[in-house]
Amino acid sequence: MDIAAFRALEPLCWRAPSAHNTQPWRLRYEPGAIRVGWDADHALPAADPTGRDLRLSLGAFVETCLIVAADAGLRLEYVADYDDQHRWVGRLRPARHRYPTPFRTSEVWERRTDRGSFADAPEADALAAVDAVARQAGGLVRAVPDAGRVGALLRAADRRLYADPTIVAELRHWLRLDPAHPDYHADGLNDRCLALSRPAAAALRAALAAYPVLRPLGLPRLLAAADDPLARGGTVLVLVAPAGLDRPGQVEFGRVLMRGWLTLHTAGLAAHPLSQLIDVAATRTALGALLDVAPDRLLHVARVGRPTRPAPHSARRSPRRDRLSE
Ligand SMILES: Cc1cc2nc3c(=O)[nH]c(=O)nc-3n(C[C@H](O)[C@H](O)[C@H](O)COP(=O)(O)O)c2cc1C
Repeated sequence: MDIAAFRALEPLCWRAPSAHNTQPWRLRYEPGAIRVGWDADHALPAADPTGRDLRLSLGAFVETCLIVAADAGLRLEYVADYDDQHRWVGRLRPARHRYPTPFRTSEVWERRTDRGSFADAPEADALAAVDAVARQAGGLVRAVPDAGRVGALLRAADRRLYADPTIVAELRHWLRLDPAHPDYHADGLNDRCLALSRPAAAALRAALAAYPVLRPLGLPRLLAAADDPLARGGTVLVLVAPAGLDRPGQVEFGRVLMRGWLTLHTAGLAAHPLSQLIDVAATRTALGALLDVAPDRLLHVARVGRPTRPAPHSARRSPRRDRLSE
């Protein structure tokens, strides 16, 4: 039975990306279907108060499950059934045909967020391909024309986020800056994936530990100025949603995001999300104005380019630890 066979594939499905690498998804095996839900403990109430990135991550997970199942010859389909109260997004259930996708499990495995240097920006045909993926769902992908302006917006957004103690506390909770951290190999953002040298990771750890004292002395400005991702190359791309996208629609667009990232990956490109640009109202508005798009349609922002070397593989928890009671 395809549902039972799916269990063995779960670790591959866990390679889906999620904001802060919280891996918020949960699976529950029911007679004839697998329910896909989420765990409130792995949401990000401070950094993602609207749940936008939570729903994008859940959609990315659903798409990953479908790709992995199809590549293993399992015939599963997804039925959306979004429910905030019970915290589930839908069900995977047996289907007559395999899920049609051009992507393979090997690509799911190999894709990774890359915060390092990019040798080249994406070529026009790669941009057209990722835009076509979004357009099939009623969205589009736009390149931001003015990189200098985006750099200033990025610093403003970072300053604003680092000035918020609840956002910083939540980030600290998911940072794994020391290999001795008990969850270093399980989840969160580790020093290697953040492209931090050992001394830089130690300095960040010390700065965040002293945050209550240093915050009024200008630590947020210092932290915001400490990194300039745009100096590491690439083009900033924005995923633009159709107007009025609702919560179930955001999950669907998480699926679009995953297809978009895999499209980039198969073209030898990688993405480095810069969600802070749309997390902060002022920079979201400014970015919307740059693109001449209503700010509430901006769904995801990432720097995209051709990596100079492979980024490290990020950590994952064991699916067994996260299974809902059956
Ligand atoms: C919706 C969403 C938003 C994200 N936002 C950011 C971000 O603002 N900055 C960042 O560095 N990474 C961001 N990421 C990347 C995650 O941190 C990354 O997917 C996770 O750590 C797992 O790593 P992997 O993508 O290499 O598998 C985001 C990912 C998703 C799915």
